[in-house]
Amino acid sequence: SHRIMLGPLVAAIDQGTSSTRFLVFNAKTAELLSHHQVEIKQSFPKEGWVEEDPKEILQSVFECMERTCEKLTQLNIDISNIKAIGVTNQRETTLVWDKETGEPLYNAIGKVVSFYYVYIICIYPGTYLTFFTSVSSLNVNAIQNVFSSVWLDLRTQSTVERLINKTPGRNKNHLKHKTGLPISTYFSAVKLRWLMDNVDEVHEAVVSHRAMFGTVDSWLIWCLTGGKSGGVHCTDVTNASRTMLFNIHTLEWDPELCKYDSCLTLAFNPIVLPCLGDQSAALVGQMCFQDGQAKNTYGTGCFLLRNTGAKPVMSDHGLLTTVAYKLGRDKPACYALEGSVAIAGAVVRWLQDNLGIIGSSEELEKLAASVGTSYGCYFVPAFSGLYAPYWEPSARGIICGLTQFTNKSHVAFAALEAVCFQTREILDAMNQDSGIPLTQLQVDGGMTSNRLLMQLQADILCIPVVKPSMPETTALGAAMAAGAAEGVSVWSLSPEDLSEVTSEKFEPQINPEESEFRYARWKKAVQKSMNWET
Ligand code: G3P
Repeated sequence: SHRIMLGPLVAAIDQGTSSTRFLVFNAKTAELLSHHQVEIKQSFPKEGWVEEDPKEILQSVFECMERTCEKLTQLNIDISNIKAIGVTNQRETTLVWDKETGEPLYNAIGKVVSFYYVYIICIYPGTYLTFFTSVSSLNVNAIQNVFSSVWLDLRTQSTVERLINKTPGRNKNHLKHKTGLPISTYFSAVKLRWLMDNVDEVHEAVVSHRAMFGTVDSWLIWCLTGGKSGGVHCTDVTNASRTMLFNIHTLEWDPELCKYDSCLTLAFNPIVLPCLGDQSAALVGQMCFQDGQAKNTYGTGCFLLRNTGAKPVMSDHGLLTTVAYKLGRDKPACYALEGSVAIAGAVVRWLQDNLGIIGSSEELEKLAASVGTSYGCYFVPAFSGLYAPYWEPSARGIICGLTQFTNKSHVAFAALEAVCFQTREILDAMNQDSGIPLTQLQVDGGMTSNRLLMQLQADILCIPVVKPSMPETTALGAAMAAGAAEGVSVWSLSPEDLSEVTSEKFEPQINPEESEFRYARWKKAVQKSMNWET
C-alpha cells in the first residue's frame, strides 16, 4: 500500500477537564485527519472537592497519541509529517510534584512505544525553541507525591474568605488591577496555598525545595521533556494569567502577588512558553483575531471570550480580564474579556451519573426535545457556587417551579436552558462593558453537537449562533499556534483557505418578549440559589 502524501501535518494535545484528546490536522487545509479521546476520571472525595490523578492525565496523553498515530498509519498517512504538536489544557487546575522522586519505574507503561519524537515548541520570553525528546525515555509512572485540585474545586473557600478579609474594605477585587481576576476559589494560587497548608507531603517538599508547582500544561511539558532528568518547568502567558500570581500588564510573575498573605513563598521559576490555555486556543481556532470578535465554548464549563486587542479592559460587570494569546516573540499580547460559567457540560454528567435520568449525553437532547419546554421549571446548577458575573461561592444548585406535572424531560430541558441563560448573563455583561453589542455568537465545544441546545441558545440570546462545521476549534487553535512557531504554513493566513471554512447558523425563532420573560424568571431563580439559606 502507498503512503498518502499530504504535506505537513500539525497536531495538538488537548487535555480538558473531562477528557484528553490528541488530534492531527492537515496543515494546509485544516482538515482533521485523525484523533483519539480518553475520558478522565474525576473524584469527589468530599462535598465541594474535585480531584484528578495527574498520572492518569499523563498516561491518557500517551494513549491518545499512540492510538491516533496507529489510526493514521492504518490510513497510510506518514506520521513523520507531523511537524509540530501544540499543547492546550484545562486551566487553573493545580498540581504540585516532587522533582526529585521522579524516578522511572521498570514497569512503566510498556506500551508507551519507542515512538516518534515529541516536539514541544517552546517560546521563551523572546525566542522560539524546539525541544526533542524520545517518548520512550520519559518517566511515566514514577512521579511521586503528585496532587491535583481541579479548577471547579471549592475546598479553598475559607482560604478565599481569609484573603478577602485582609483586603481594605473586604474587597474581592483588590488584586484585580494586576491580575484581572477577583479573589476566588477558581484560581490556582489559593489551591496552591491550600495544598501547602493541608498536605504534609507538599509542605515537606516545599520546605526542602523539592516542590514543583504548575498547571496541567506545566506538568505535561515537564514530563514530556524528561521529567526528573532535566524536564522543562514552564508555562505560557495564558495559563499564567489564571494563577493569580501573574501581572497581566507586565506579563511577569508578580512578587507582591506571590507574597500576598505569604501565600506563595514557594520558589518556582517557570519560563513562559507557548502552549495555550484551552479557552485561548479556542479563540485562536475560531480565528477571533480582531478586537470585538468573540466565541463561546461549551465544555465542562462554558467560557465566552471576547478579544479586546492589545489593551486589557477591566470589567465593571463581573467579567475577568485575561491574556488571550501572544503568538510570537515580537507580537504584542492580546487580551480578552472572559465570562466563565462553572457548570455547562458538567450538568449533563450530573443528570447521568447522579440522577440517572439519562444513560448518555446523547440521550439528553432526545429527552428534552420530547417535551420542548421546561414547563416553568428552572434549574440553576450552582454546584460550585456561581462564577461570572456573580462570583458567589456560597450559591448552591436549585431546581424550582416544580408542579405535579413536571417530569424528568422538563428537568432535562431546564438543564439545557440553564446553559443558555448563563451564557446570556455573560453576553449582557460583555455588551455593557464594551458598549458594542455582539451581533452573532461563534460557538464550539462538545455540547454544540446538541442542536436543540444551539437553537435554544439563539432564542435566548436573540442573536444568531454560528457553529463551524469542524467543531474542534480548541485543538485547531493549539495546532495552529504550534505550526506557526515551527514555520509550518498555516491556513488561517490565507483568505482562500478561510473561505473553505463552513459553518451552520441558528437564527432566533421565538419572539424577544417571550425570551425576556423566560430570562427574567431565570434571574429570579438565580437570586434564590444565592439566598436559599436565608
Ligand atoms: O477554566 C477552566 C477551563 O479551562 C476548563 O475547560 O473545557 O474543561 O470546560 P473545559
